[in-house]
Amino acid sequence: MNRTLLIVKPDGVERGLVGEVLARLERKGLRLVVGRLEVIPRDLAAAHYAEHQGKPFYDDLLAFITRSPAFVAVVEGPKDTWRILRTLMGPTNPAEAPPGTIRGDLATETAENLVHGSDSAEAAAREIALFFPQLA
Ligand code: TYD
Ligand code: MG
Repeated sequence: MNRTLLIVKPDGVERGLVGEVLARLERKGLRLVVGRLEVIPRDLAAAHYAEHQGKPFYDDLLAFITRSPAFVAVVEGPKDTWRILRTLMGPTNPAEAPPGTIRGDLATETAENLVHGSDSAEAAAREIALFFPQLA
C-alpha cells in the first residue's frame, strides 16, 4: 500500500467537518491507517511547514495551524495516494477550487482551507515520519 499525510486543520475540526472529509476519502477508496486529534505543537508545525518559512503568510499560518486541535492522520491507497488526496482537496485557494472538491465545496479562504495533504511522494514520507515516527 501507498501512504500520505492528511490533516483536517483547526477550522475543519471547529466546524465539525472531520467526518465529512473522512467520508469523502473513504468513498474514493482511501483508508485510514492511524489518526489523532491534537493541538499541533509549535515546533512540529514549524518543521512541517519549513518550506514556507520567511513567506508573508508564515506567521499567520503557524498561529492558525496551532490554534486548536487538528485531526492528523495517515491514509493509504493502492498507489499515488498523495496525488489522489490532492485531487480530492482541490487547489490551495478555495476560490479556484472546483465544486466537488473538499476546498471547492466547503471553504472560502486560502488561510482556512480545511485540509492538508502531502504534495509529493517525498513529502508524504517526510511528513509521515514527522507526525508518526513509529510508522516510518
Ligand atoms: P501551500 O503548501 O502552498 O498550499 P497547500 O496547502 O495546498 O499545499 O501553503 C500551505 C498553506 O499556507 C495553505 O494551505 C494555506 C496557507 N497559505 C496562505 O495562507 N496564503 C498563501 O498565499 C499561500 C500560498 C498559502
Ligand atoms: Mg503544501
